[in-house]
Parts: sequence; structure tokens; C-alpha cells
Amino acid sequence: MGTAFKTLLVYFCVANLVVNAFEPVSTTIAIGATAFLGRTIYNYFHESCDPKWVQFNATGLRADLESQLFGQHLASRIILKAVTGFMNNNNPKKPLVLSLHGWTGTGKNFVSQLIANNIYREGMDSRFVHVFTSELHFPHAVQVETYKSQLQHWIRGNVTACAHSMFVFDEMDKMHPGLIDSIKPFLDYYDKLDGVSYRKAIFIFLSNAGGEIITHTTLDFWKSGKDREELELKDVEIPLSLSVFNNKNSGLWHTCLIDKNLVDFFVPFLPLEYRHVVQCAMAEMKARGLSPDPDMAYKVASEFIYFPKADRVFSSKGCKTIKSMLDYYI
Ligand SMILES: *[C@@H]1O[C@H](CO)[C@@H](O)[C@H](O)[C@H]1NC(C)=O
Ligand SMILES: *[C@@H]1O[C@H](CO)[C@@H](O)[C@H](O)[C@H]1NC(C)=O
Repeated sequence: MGTAFKTLLVYFCVANLVVNAFEPVSTTIAIGATAFLGRTIYNYFHESCDPKWVQFNATGLRADLESQLFGQHLASRIILKAVTGFMNNNNPKKPLVLSLHGWTGTGKNFVSQLIANNIYREGMDSRFVHVFTSELHFPHAVQVETYKSQLQHWIRGNVTACAHSMFVFDEMDKMHPGLIDSIKPFLDYYDKLDGVSYRKAIFIFLSNAGGEIITHTTLDFWKSGKDREELELKDVEIPLSLSVFNNKNSGLWHTCLIDKNLVDFFVPFLPLEYRHVVQCAMAEMKARGLSPDPDMAYKVASEFIYFPKADRVFSSKGCKTIKSMLDYYI
């Protein structure tokens, strides 16, 4: 940003100096020009809903998923396809709705960050990215009616301000079903709702629901001697949908929003293996500007609990934990 900004600033100052030297008529013109420049400078610093601040970088997303998300071949593939397809479509028929499922620490929040980083220049700090957490934003079940209208109001207001808004709902499994129902209309195939089009917005739902089934499936797959990367979406989806239909109180029923086919992509996050935990540690050292030390990575990774007990393959914790654990080793 540095050089361009300085050039702009110099230009702005010069324009002002010139104004002083001019007679009235040209002064008016110069003032107009200065006002225009002022606006340009304002937009330069102040995030606005234009391609300078909001522009999708498919190459960047692919590179980030490849280099920073470990052990999630399904999620990686689905996310890249979904987001790229959606962002390259100038006239989507509905907003993009992603439902991310898996145990805590498998990378659901992290993936949302990678998506945001490759759409908004400000990443998660963008004014157009909104994160809602059940416990923080909607803590009291008795107030659900208030939350409903507040949430609808927010979504409407924010999408009116910027069509390319992104909404992330964390801990969907803890969210009141009534609240989930209140956002359903925004996810559907409507040209416009009350004069507002939601078709360019992105909704991401994060949920631990289904995590157990995904873990069991991955474990069974490993036990049968197959390669993890051969695991396909249907291998996970079938046991999940069976569980959903057998138990409508599982939380998954509501979280999936499948009853109305509003979710475009179901994204499973698999439990990490020891080798992925090591990769996380190495990547984190690199991110901290240190030269990655394999011995230290193995040492930190070995502190985790792994299952099955005898083989110590799958980690009970994720990348985020290892990142904070590194503080005690470096
Ligand atoms: C897109 O991402 C790639 C890889 O991270 C980067 O090299 C490139 O500069 C980015 N393009 C834009 C326009 O930001
Ligand atoms: C946008 O959403 C935020 C919550 O993330 C809310 O505080 C704000 O009031 C909303 N803006 C509008 C214009 O509704």
C-alpha cells in the first residue's frame, strides 16, 4: 500500500497548493477536483464494497488450502470447487450455503478464515464478514423472539450495504432451532425478498454435530487398510444421513437444514492423524518466522492423545491446540 498511498497524498497536497494560486472560476473546478480526490482517498483507506476491497482470488484459495489445511482432502476439494464456482458466477440463483461438520479443532473455523482472506482484502476483519456464535450472540433461549428479529434485521441491513457479505455461524448445534428457521428464507431461491437480493451472499455454518460419525467412518476406513485419501464424500454422507433420519433430535437434523435442500455443500472434516499434527507444528513454526524444526514438531505432537490406543493414529486434538502449545516450546 505504501508507495501508492504516498503518491496519492503528494498529489492531494499539490492539488491544494494549486487551488490557492487560481482565480475564482478555476478555484471552483479545483475544489470539485479536490473533493473527488478526497473521496478517492477515503475509499482508499476506508473499506468499501468494491473490487478494490472485495475480489476473489482463486489461485490464492487453492494455494492456501494446499499449504495450510492438513489432512482434509474432502473439505479442501469441496470448498475450492464451491467457492470458485460461486464467485465466478455473476448471476447465482441463490446464496452459497456451506455446512461444515466435524470435531472441534479439525479446521472448520480455519477454513472460513482462508475463504475470507481470499475474498476480502481485510479477511476476517472485513466489515462485510459477520461471525455469530450461539453462546455469545444468542445466549438466552427465552429471548429467541428478540434474537430472531435482530438477526433478520442484521442480515438484511448488511446485504443491502454489500451484496457480497459473508455470514459465519459458529456452533450451529447449540443454536436454537427457531433461530435457524428464521434465517432459512435468506438461503432459498428467491430473486428478491422485500426488495433485497441475497443471491451473492455466502453463509457458512459450523457444527460439531456429525463429528462422531465422521470419526467412526474414518477409523473404520483406516482399520480396513484403505488409504485415507480414498475416502469419498458418499462414504461419510450415507452413515450421516441414516443417523439423521433415525434421530431427529440429534441436532444434525436442524443443523443440516437438509429438510429444505438449502445447503449447497456438506463439508466433512476428518479427525487428524499424527502426521498431520506434525505438519501443523512445522507450518506454525514457519508462520512465526522460525526455521521448521522436525524434532520439536515430533516432540510437541507426541504430547497429544491418540487413538486407537494401541496404534496411536488419530489425534483427539487439532491444529489450533498445537499452535498454542508451541508457545511453551519455543
Ligand atoms: C492471489 O493469490 C496469489 C497466491 O497467494 C498471489 O500470488 C497473488 O498476488 C494474489 N492475487 C491478487 C490479485 O491478490
Ligand atoms: C451488520 O451486522 C452487524 C453484526 O455483525 C450488526 O451489528 C450491524 O448492525 C449490521 N448492520 C446493519 C446495517 O444492519
